[in-house]
Amino acid sequence: MAGLNKVTVEDLNVKGKKVLVRVDFNVPLKDGVITNDNRIQAALPTINKLVENGAKVVLCSHLGKPKNGPEEKFSLKPAADRLAELVSAKVTFANDDTVVGENAKAAVAAMNDGEIVVLQNTRFRGAEETKNGEAFAKELADLVDGQVFVMDAFGSAHRAHASTAGVTKFVKETAVGYLMQKEIQYLGNAVEVPERPFVAILGGAKVADKLNVISNLLEKCDTLIIGGGMAYTFLKAQGGSIGTSLVDDEKIDY
Ligand code: 3PG
Repeated sequence: MAGLNKVTVEDLNVKGKKVLVRVDFNVPLKDGVITNDNRIQAALPTINKLVENGAKVVLCSHLGKPKNGPEEKFSLKPAADRLAELVSAKVTFANDDTVVGENAKAAVAAMNDGEIVVLQNTRFRGAEETKNGEAFAKELADLVDGQVFVMDAFGSAHRAHASTAGVTKFVKETAVGYLMQKEIQYLGNAVEVPERPFVAILGGAKVADKLNVISNLLEKCDTLIIGGGMAYTFLKAQGGSIGTSLVDDEKIDY
């Protein structure tokens, strides 16, 4: 395995410190019920490590794409509830439409070492989050006294948002979590020193996000297999009939 050129949670001394962790709790929901908790499970190694090491763990994430500010159906409460079932630490959900509001501040102030606070959906702050607004990034950092930020939201790591990128400017220490570490190591090795034949399999719904990845992989792999929702855009581009399946018509020409 190639070495990981990043500070990780293993390198941090977090005892008694407030640590902001960006996770990807963008889980699928149906009528307010989580239909697949993989993303919460995937964040547990990092969360548990920080809890065991006596940090005060403040989690933030986006969920879905709320267009008009705060909306109940995009609340992170179901994810916080599920997390509470999966960890032994105390979990408090801070339900502020402003994400860093009175509830969050009070919950963080009342934390003991080894406890967890989950903030409300970062996208409730609209463009402040998605356009990487400095003021919101600083609010997030200030909530943990500008101490430590851990990035473990692999599924969101391609986004330069306030809670993924901007916040790093306002904290003393930053590190990657175990999920990021694992994915970077696997991807780095698979792509840089592949064993051949090298077959890459990609899935997911959003083709637009993945075109750059696909172009890069095509240079390196022997075979590329595309599945999931985005496969229909390729099938349609090849002249296939896809009925009412998901399609990104703007990308057909590409
Ligand atoms: C995903 O589900 O792909 C990630 O959570 C990122 O979500 P986004 O495309 O809404 O930024």
